[in-house]
Amino acid sequence: MSGEELGVGVIKHIKGSVVIADNMRGSQVREVVLVGKEKLTGEIVRIEGDLAIIQVYEPTTGMSPGEPVIRTGEPLSVELGPGLLGQVLDGLGRPLEKIAEAAGSFIERGIRIPTLPRDKKWDFKPVVKKGDKMDPGSVIGEVPEGAIIHKIMVPPNLKRVEVVEVASEGSYYIEDVIAVLREDSREIELKMYHKWPVRVPRPFKEYLGTTELLVTGQRVIDTFFPISKGGTAAIPGGFGTGKTVTLHQISKWADADVVVYVGCGERGNEMTDLLLHFPKLIDPRTGEPLMKRSILIANTSNMPVPAREASIFVGITYAEYYRDMGYHVVLTADSTSRWAEALRELSSRLEEIPSERGYPAYLPDYIAAFYERGGKVRTLGGDRVGSVSIIGAVSPSGGDLNEPVTQHTIRYVGTFWALDTTLAFKRHFPAINWLQSFSKYVDNVKDWWLKETGTNMYDLREQAMTILQESSRLEEIASVVGESALSDENRLIILIGELIREGFLVQNAYHEIDTYCPPHKQVLILKTLLEFYNKVKPLVDAGVPFTEIEKLEVIGDLGRLKFLKDEQVEEAIKDIKKRLETELSQVKRAVI
Ligand SMILES: Nc1ncnc2c1ncn2[C@@H]1O[C@H](COP(=O)(O)OP(=O)(O)O)[C@@H](O)[C@H]1O
Ligand SMILES: [Mg+2]
Repeated sequence: MSGEELGVGVIKHIKGSVVIADNMRGSQVREVVLVGKEKLTGEIVRIEGDLAIIQVYEPTTGMSPGEPVIRTGEPLSVELGPGLLGQVLDGLGRPLEKIAEAAGSFIERGIRIPTLPRDKKWDFKPVVKKGDKMDPGSVIGEVPEGAIIHKIMVPPNLKRVEVVEVASEGSYYIEDVIAVLREDSREIELKMYHKWPVRVPRPFKEYLGTTELLVTGQRVIDTFFPISKGGTAAIPGGFGTGKTVTLHQISKWADADVVVYVGCGERGNEMTDLLLHFPKLIDPRTGEPLMKRSILIANTSNMPVPAREASIFVGITYAEYYRDMGYHVVLTADSTSRWAEALRELSSRLEEIPSERGYPAYLPDYIAAFYERGGKVRTLGGDRVGSVSIIGAVSPSGGDLNEPVTQHTIRYVGTFWALDTTLAFKRHFPAINWLQSFSKYVDNVKDWWLKETGTNMYDLREQAMTILQESSRLEEIASVVGESALSDENRLIILIGELIREGFLVQNAYHEIDTYCPPHKQVLILKTLLEFYNKVKPLVDAGVPFTEIEKLEVIGDLGRLKFLKDEQVEEAIKDIKKRLETELSQVKRAVI
């Protein structure tokens, strides 16, 4: 349908990024409109009689009442096809570089540059033949893209189709027709890409359980507060507590095939940092840029607030698309607070009745709509298994975790990594507070650990957690009465708590080896630390003074196991155990 057939409205009133247009009867909420002479992209958010209230995704400066508003009849959609990976896009899916090239150093309004390059050829290899019957989601052909094989699928909004014609192996532009499909009596020309409305979750066959660990190589996460493939996590914390570093670590190390990173920084320099830093990350699997299997969405500060609101849904739509191919996708958003603030700002411009702290009453629904799009699924058309794991940073002002965005987010995520300013100040990184954080996946991934490492990690975690909780409590008492006033048993618990913290929880993202700790190394370290405790505890119980235990030389080595190369750890542990025996027999001799 063209704009003419749908009728053209007229701008009545402009209020920042919100425009009120008249003569809009018949239009739909969530319909995309082209606003003003410059045809800026906007979305209808409310309809009142002939009036449509529109949020405009580009700066409206210079626009005047009386200018036209063209209807499109379409919801806000993105292009899905080869060429997404490696791109740096704005909140509406427009390639930042090309926009900048086209407009000098600033983003010109109303610029229509498609997401997927039209001048690039892709090597297409069909996997079906004429006459094949296919379901929505079935794979028609394959295209190498970046670090993966891109699957060209029958769009999920079609019915069962028959292949009338399919292109032979060769290289094609994205606008070339690579297949003709028959749906009922209608013939459809299929290109390598299709469009999808960003606010509509892409369909799949069924949810699968979240029983597979998403390995991040970050010990406090994998062992204590795991996220599974298809799981959701929130990482709230004040400025400088390590949200961005953690998200980058996960993007880089998680055992996912595709990474979608949505940057919603409020300060311009945060986005500049992201644009400078992220494309330089090296993929540890290939030694090549991580961008080869990533999509970076950057909400630059010259785009108005509504674009930030839409960008989250743009990102999740890309993630679902690669999930549908049968890939594991990690989507990180930094930070969802900036996104929620965009909602708040819009809501106030729309003069809606504010709820808690000025946020609109529908804030929880929006947060839910985002996290609910995570999951591990069996896909349409071929039963592939894919997942979208979602990790959102939350940056409450002043680090106050009781504010609405954090509190509503808690309700919808499976994992909660509470960052702690005090820990960050002490340079205990990742500053994830082990008493305030939780993961609902601990039980789910229990069997995964057993199968992958042959160890009951669940039990080790329980024991370590008990020690950590107990030592935190005892340290508080010690800070009042002095540590020497505690019993030797209690002082031992404090020592072991410290050992678990320093030797296991603390992990340096910038240390060549420590930056990534594979699951079996996590098991070895934690097991050894706990064995040490189980070995010396009976001695202390039997009267060996704590001061003798504290002096043991192996303690230092236990704390440094994490810095050892993978292949050195087992040998080092054997050596520590041997030396511990010698040291302990000396202690016993001295005491008796
Ligand atoms: N895992 C880590 N290892 C080492 N340093 C870290 C780690 N996490 C955070 N940091 C330190 O904390 C600083 C702030 O982290 P950042 O992620 O930028 O905070 P936020 O995004 O929460 O404001 C980093 O520049 C780095 O020095
Ligand atoms: Mg940050």
